[in-house]
Amino acid sequence: MNAIFNIRPKRLAADPSMRKGIVLAGGTGSRLFPMTHSVSKQLIPVYDKPMIYYPLTALMLAGIREILVISTPYDLPGFRHLLEDGSQWGLEILYAEQPKPEGLAQAFLIGEKFIDGKPVCLVLGDNLFYGNELAASLCAAASRMEGATIFGYHTKAPEQYGVVEFDSDGGVVSIEEKPAHPKSNYAIPGIYFFDDTVVERAKKLKPSARGELEISDLNRVYLERGELKVEILGRGTTWLDTGTPDSLADATQFVQVIQQRQGLKIACPEELAFVQGRIDREKLNESVVKYDGTPYGDYLKSL
Ligand code: G1P
Repeated sequence: MNAIFNIRPKRLAADPSMRKGIVLAGGTGSRLFPMTHSVSKQLIPVYDKPMIYYPLTALMLAGIREILVISTPYDLPGFRHLLEDGSQWGLEILYAEQPKPEGLAQAFLIGEKFIDGKPVCLVLGDNLFYGNELAASLCAAASRMEGATIFGYHTKAPEQYGVVEFDSDGGVVSIEEKPAHPKSNYAIPGIYFFDDTVVERAKKLKPSARGELEISDLNRVYLERGELKVEILGRGTTWLDTGTPDSLADATQFVQVIQQRQGLKIACPEELAFVQGRIDREKLNESVVKYDGTPYGDYLKSL
């Protein structure tokens, strides 16, 4: 338990201007076919937990309580069955359908009612974040009520991602989506903090050449108005995505190695909720009973 003392968020549910969270877990997962033919990508395991636990706990680290899970009509029942109403983790989880994958920024149109004019954090359901400084970075971003905060992460293959270019003073020069010739090695991870104007701005976006409302276009709207902050996630932080068989295997190995060495779990929502004071021991015990006689139940019992 000592190792995770520093993950208590600064602000919890009491704040009425509380930021909302969205996990986008749609898409066809075609790069993982046939694995994801009948099961949503974000429900398949990364080592010992469903993939969505990783981005979900990133929102928890940021102090967020109300969360909308967006997925396909076909896959939503699976998410509902797994995550329920969120109260087991001190959260409020709601669900919405994305009938067709028409871009990440579509999340703000689908989620308009849920967002209800509040600032919001969008996290992609296949992104995994880990590291000692992560909670502080996420809480700082969550506490900024104006403009947008996104992150930059040094990668070997930036062309697979949104890419941010900096000038010599560290100012942001450009943002490009999967450029053939990236202007920097800094990829943009799939977690984005926006202010309460995001829905209006998302409504004005035009679909890209591939017919999607691009998150990079939305970020560029903030950039052009001088309202975009890009924080570097340093080398002490791990960011992995899990969209291909190789990256999924890397993420699985990563979680396995750390957990086996430390005997502590990455992205265990029950543990995080308990440590953050979102749930009491009685509530935690309900999960212990639910998973009684399983290794996961034993871990929860050890808390
Ligand atoms: C999306 C975004 C991209 C971002 C990436 C992070 O790409 O479009 O800007 O860097 O997520 O995982 P996708 O992986 O959906 O193609």
